[in-house]
Amino acid sequence: MPSDPVPAPLRERAQQLTSRAHVPFSGTPTAAVLLLDDGRWIPGVRVESASYSLTLPALLNAYTTAVAAGVADQVAAFVLSRPFRREEALYVEELAEGPYEAVADDSWLRGGWTGNGALPTMSSPHSPVLNGSVDDTPDGGIRRARQVVERAHVPASGYPVGALLECNDGRLVAGVNVEHPDWARILCAERSALGTVHSYDLPSPRHLFLTCNDDPDGTPCGACRQLLAELAPDTTLWMDRHDAPPEQATVSALLPGSFRGRALLGDG
Ligand code: THU
Repeated sequence: MPSDPVPAPLRERAQQLTSRAHVPFSGTPTAAVLLLDDGRWIPGVRVESASYSLTLPALLNAYTTAVAAGVADQVAAFVLSRPFRREEALYVEELAEGPYEAVADDSWLRGGWTGNGALPTMSSPHSPVLNGSVDDTPDGGIRRARQVVERAHVPASGYPVGALLECNDGRLVAGVNVEHPDWARILCAERSALGTVHSYDLPSPRHLFLTCNDDPDGTPCGACRQLLAELAPDTTLWMDRHDAPPEQATVSALLPGSFRGRALLGDG
């Protein structure tokens, strides 16, 4: 490995961001910072699920936010709040925008940045919030979700999904499905958007607009229903049916009697 080129503020930021992690079950927060070529940065935090394997790792959460924001090809550095695990290294190694190289046990840089050049100076966070707002009818939200879906990364399935989350204060956040050569690491659009809400500490969602192009049977998968039940139980969903009127659903109707893991929390 070359001498460590990672500036201290990036590592400090990764440590600070651990306070946003949602880790009620393990109590072990992790955070990631993605530094973009222009100095802006994207946070990602670990978001745990009571269905353990559905937990969003910090690195995946940050990267899928970058894809939904249309800046995945501008990631100069991936920095974690702790050393990379083998599966995290493999995830970064296989990204199409690479090659990336490990430069320290907690940091990977994109090819062009591993030479002698200094990394860009860290500036402000890259905002995940979309311009504008949606009105009271579902049409506006669905129209925006149909724009968001353009950013889906779907080389494996060719099945793009777009999610538009409206937070309780009206702010809008995008999510898309992000595929990976390792199918176990594919993330759906709904969970990508939910993860972004946590990484940026945004208010809870109230509406979720979903589109999957021409599939009239498209509906949130079981994993997304579980995460919605745990993290955004009061959200109203609108599913785009293209020519047909959008279909409305509540999270509790999609997954009645869901397991929330309350007994695992140890405090009742
Ligand atoms: N997908 C979603 O994004 N959301 C869902 O609720 C169902 C499935 C994605 C995952 C994968 O990229 C593709 O659609 C096919 O399953």
